[in-house]
Amino acid sequence: MTAPDRPAGGGPRRLVVLLSGSGSNLAALLDACADPAYGARIVAVGADRDGIAGLDRAHAAGVPTFVHRIPDYADRGAWDEALTKSVAAYEPDLVISAGFLKLVGPAFLARFGGRYLNTHNALLPSFPGIHGPRDALAYGVRITGATLFVVDEGVDTGQIIAQVAVPVLDGDTEETLTERIKEVERAQLVEYVGRMARNGWTISGRKVKVL
Ligand code: GRF
Repeated sequence: MTAPDRPAGGGPRRLVVLLSGSGSNLAALLDACADPAYGARIVAVGADRDGIAGLDRAHAAGVPTFVHRIPDYADRGAWDEALTKSVAAYEPDLVISAGFLKLVGPAFLARFGGRYLNTHNALLPSFPGIHGPRDALAYGVRITGATLFVVDEGVDTGQIIAQVAVPVLDGDTEETLTERIKEVERAQLVEYVGRMARNGWTISGRKVKVL
């Protein structure tokens, strides 16, 4: 699988960011996109809930937003279809889950598979799920970190694009470890999304090559 060719005439790649929380990863991407040389721009931000700081950040930056709450739909399939439709309307080259706390379904993956990325706050395949730092701390590992990967139908099982290590320090709490991971996680996300936007990428089996 290969990223599509850049449209004639170039222009920045189109990013849609999905989130459920504070949006510090979104903020880092917005900052990066302010430089035309970065090669990407955020065309929309989507969420699964209202009243989150991530949506406020998008509004402040003048980026259109949409919200699809699962309880507002008859079933998960209907929610997945609605989410897919909203994202597709913005014709993204890449969709980025930046703290989006929902698993997308078959409709979404059929449309955006291979171009839907997620950033996770542990070194996959260790500690998948929503409590990466807590689980790493409880297990007693001395090194954890962050993983950028291509989303598939599993829980944090897709092909790994990049990883960055973070030592666990004596005295770390879930909060201190989470914050240290988030610092390097943001830098990794910005670096790799930019490279993928500017140069493209290939996926072959489990291997992702960022060009
Ligand atoms: C990130 O650490 C991500 O790994 C986790 O949620 C966090 C999102 O943070 N799934 P933010 O909303 O971008 O600040």
